[in-house]
Amino acid sequence: MNEKTIEEWISFFEVEVPNHVTESRWKHIQRVAKLAESLAIAHKYPEPKKAYLVGLCHDTTKQKKAEVHESLFSEFGLEMEGIPFQAYHAYSAPLFLQKEYGLVDPEIRSAIQNHTLGSPKPSLLDQIVYAADFLGSDYCQKQIELENWIQNTKENLSFGIFMKAFQTISFLMEKKEVIHPHTFFTYNHALQSLKETK
Ligand SMILES: [Fe+2]
Ligand SMILES: [Fe+2]
Repeated sequence: MNEKTIEEWISFFEVEVPNHVTESRWKHIQRVAKLAESLAIAHKYPEPKKAYLVGLCHDTTKQKKAEVHESLFSEFGLEMEGIPFQAYHAYSAPLFLQKEYGLVDPEIRSAIQNHTLGSPKPSLLDQIVYAADFLGSDYCQKQIELENWIQNTKENLSFGIFMKAFQTISFLMEKKEVIHPHTFFTYNHALQSLKETK
């Protein structure tokens, strides 16, 4: 993965990412990085520090203007038809990381790209980051059940994945917004696997 080690990338982004996001977004990012690492350990993902690094970078472009996303998509030739605006940052962040810092890693790219909509064929790292993004959300920080949810997700990753897909779908339906098929797929798949392990 380029010339830097994972540890070097982590030290680099702990300083760099705060330049691109607000204080409260940075707090979310730090929670997600820590949760991703601990879920990686719980689920035997071989590189927990890589999970931490993905958490650290996943929302780097979250607060960028539409033009920033769009110019990255056109520069890299990415077709964004059918991708809702809320998910643009998930697709633009890996391009931004590549262009600005030379971070190129297919596993990292996939996990960042799929952290908002989910994926029909998620890798273990994709799933870890998807669940960590939910457990580290502002919404979750206000829930008294949070510690149990984290524990449940350490025992069964599908728990956190289901919670995020459920919450995303409920929120979008409430606002009468379009729901991406990947999110429905993620919801169904996680629910199925929860039912099977009961
Ligand atoms: Fe995000
Ligand atoms: Fe996030």
